[in-house]
Amino acid sequence: AWQQGLLMTKIVFIGHDETVREVDSATGMSVMEAAVKNMVPGIDADCGGACACATCMVYVPPEWADRLPPKDANEEALLQFCPRADERSRLACQIKVSGEIDGLRVATPVHQH
Ligand code: FES
Repeated sequence: AWQQGLLMTKIVFIGHDETVREVDSATGMSVMEAAVKNMVPGIDADCGGACACATCMVYVPPEWADRLPPKDANEEALLQFCPRADERSRLACQIKVSGEIDGLRVATPVHQH
């Protein structure tokens, strides 16, 4: 079928209550968009992916941290103002879905505000 031609990447979202949600996402969208499209709770994405709100913050486990492209200055700055952020935090809208991150696991906070 035509779907076999699509490049799908699996992303696993772990909820604050340990609920595991596996999402198949098309290459080229962001991890935030994959979450919103699949109604993953805990991702608000108020700014729609403009790297301006930090309500798409997720926690990346250590085994994945080095496999993601590094934060740019904008993402770094925004995370500093996010009260729930820690050293594991990334903005999901700044992580592009690609085959390289197939199987990525990220944890979502209880809420974003
Ligand atoms: Fe606003 Fe990611 S959606 S910073």
